[in-house]
Amino acid sequence: IKRGLSTSSAMSAVIKNVTVIGGGLMGSGIAQVAAQTGHNVTLVEVNADLIKKAESGIAKSLSRVAKKLYKDDPQAAEKFIAESQSRIKGSTDIADAVKDSDLVVEAIVENLEVKHKLFKNLDAVAPPKTMFASNTSSLSIGEIASVTNRKDRFGGLHFFNPVPVMKLLEVVRIPETSDETYEAFMAWGKAVGKTCVTCKDTPGFIVNRLLVPYVAEAIRMMERGDASPRDIDTAMKLGAGYPMGPIELSDYVGHDTSYSILVGWQKKFPDNPLFVPNESVKKLIDEKKLGLKTGEGFYKYSK
Ligand code: 3HC
Repeated sequence: IKRGLSTSSAMSAVIKNVTVIGGGLMGSGIAQVAAQTGHNVTLVEVNADLIKKAESGIAKSLSRVAKKLYKDDPQAAEKFIAESQSRIKGSTDIADAVKDSDLVVEAIVENLEVKHKLFKNLDAVAPPKTMFASNTSSLSIGEIASVTNRKDRFGGLHFFNPVPVMKLLEVVRIPETSDETYEAFMAWGKAVGKTCVTCKDTPGFIVNRLLVPYVAEAIRMMERGDASPRDIDTAMKLGAGYPMGPIELSDYVGHDTSYSILVGWQKKFPDNPLFVPNESVKKLIDEKKLGLKTGEGFYKYSK
């Protein structure tokens, strides 16, 4: 019997049905790449309007991907778009959305209390086979998982914006994450077309631990008047080969997101000078200039 059980649990670790909670920029991107690669996706949002908004963002992004994949074959491009879309089902009912789910990826607001409430509920309604992952950029996976009774089936799956373009996936283990869960995450990351790296549950994992202080330093340089934003951006693009300069990247990521990351880290690590939030970013947020998504941040964007 033991052998039968372990065989069936090994088989159930193959991820086919994916539930994505949150239809914002990251959640939509995760739903899209999963659907593009043949997974059945249920995308959960709080109301029908937000599902519609996510679907229209996905449609736009899919057509960019299709154009690239099927340059000279518009028919194949149409087929790719239609098939990918048909694999995504919108839902506002969490219990229904997870009833046959192999993997839940959470991509909701970066607030521990809100995430706890969600995962407590998910843990109660999801079948035992369902693995849970958070796409958090800066919160602790262990702290998020602490409210569930399935820490062995819990980990971090951290994607990058824009999800359909950025090739990396950070797979984060907590001490309780089982080898089987970890292996299923790594295999799924590969199946959705990403290159996976692994790291411990440390603040910012690999990329944001390096990128967030770097961007904050660049903003401090601008705040001191050492160089103009344009010149800082040009310097890092042409001198270090980055696709975007740090100031434009801060607008691209969104100032609300990066500011809240630094505020959270500063609270936890008050002595680390790399984690001091920027005054000028706070000012932009107060003026509702959140970056590209609102049409203005450090730079202005035409729609
Ligand atoms: N969906 C699908 N395709 C997209 C896309 C999207 N949302 N955005 C861009 N693309 C495609 C374009 O269609 C284009 O395809 P092509 O090569 O066939 O023409 C290609 O990507 C390049 O796009 P663009 O020509 O519009 O512009 P760029 O060459 O400047 O590339 C970029 C845009 C990919 C965003 C690039 O500037 C870049 O890599 N920037 C850095 C992004 C980055 O650092 N992201 C990480 C942020 S940190 C993060 O996400 C962590 C989080 O936790 C905060």
